[in-house]
Amino acid sequence: MASYWSNKVVLVTGASSGIGRGLAIELARHGAAVGLLARRADTLQEVVAEIEAGGGRGLALPADVTDANAVRQAADTLRTELGPIDVLFANAGVGGTVHAAKLEPEEFAGVIDVNVKGAVNSVTAVIGDMVKRGQGQLVVISSLAAYRGLPKSAAYCSSKAAVSAFFESLRLDLHGSGVDVTIIHPGFIKTPLTAGRQARLPWLMELGYAVDKILKATEARKKSYAFPWQLATIVRAGMIMPNFMYDWISRRNSFRE
Ligand SMILES: NC(=O)c1ccc[n+]([C@@H]2O[C@H](COP(=O)([O-])OP(=O)(O)OC[C@H]3O[C@@H](n4cnc5c(N)ncnc54)[C@H](OP(=O)(O)O)[C@@H]3O)[C@@H](O)[C@H]2O)c1
Repeated sequence: MASYWSNKVVLVTGASSGIGRGLAIELARHGAAVGLLARRADTLQEVVAEIEAGGGRGLALPADVTDANAVRQAADTLRTELGPIDVLFANAGVGGTVHAAKLEPEEFAGVIDVNVKGAVNSVTAVIGDMVKRGQGQLVVISSLAAYRGLPKSAAYCSSKAAVSAFFESLRLDLHGSGVDVTIIHPGFIKTPLTAGRQARLPWLMELGYAVDKILKATEARKKSYAFPWQLATIVRAGMIMPNFMYDWISRRNSFRE
């Protein structure tokens, strides 16, 4: 039976680990031809081997998302090898735990470079062709951390707020162009990014469960999707809380040690 993904060409950034790796493997299993972009070439090659062993098609595209030319070249290679790109998952990202008093500009810039500029570089490498073809989908893995500030998360929260606003603006500009935009706001997922955390992570999700949710929201071409619903509801309630109440609750619920 043909699936939504049959014969689609999909570019996944951050495909060497965690959510991106999970997405790439699952997309290939559903019939997509997948371009896997990240910095670690050997690890990407291992994921491609796993995809091919399952009968799927994958292409390793080693590149750093902060390098706009490298990302553009990777997208060109994918188009040449596998065909026009139908869907982009702008997923590559880094975390970071720093108290405001210890914040270093370079460290802050590093998070913004990957999480924001990296997503912009990925979009600009594919958007022109999608608009010309009158079809495509741009998906970003933002975070529930995009909605309000969190303790020891100034860089991460601001990067995710920026990337969500960026994709929302794209969605407005691209209305009627045939190119859809989907903003994913996940809560905590078991990946190498969260593996070292000592703090209790509420409603921590298994990777397979999260990948399934992200793919279903993408297939439904949702404009935005926040999950799990329990944490998404609390975060949304936080958006309409007065600051004194939000601060009182947030200071007592740090997710970073
Ligand atoms: N895990 C969670 O709980 C969670 C929750 C909400 C949102 N998210 C978001 O989901 C995305 C993926 O996170 P994850 O948990 O899967 O993390 P992860 O396992 O640490 O994977 C991060 C991926 O990003 C890639 N990457 C990092 N810097 C890069 C760069 N400069 N150029 C190219 N690729 C780069 C890494 O590959 P290389 O090191 O090989 O370059 C890796 O493949 C991130 O945007 C994260 O903010 C995660």
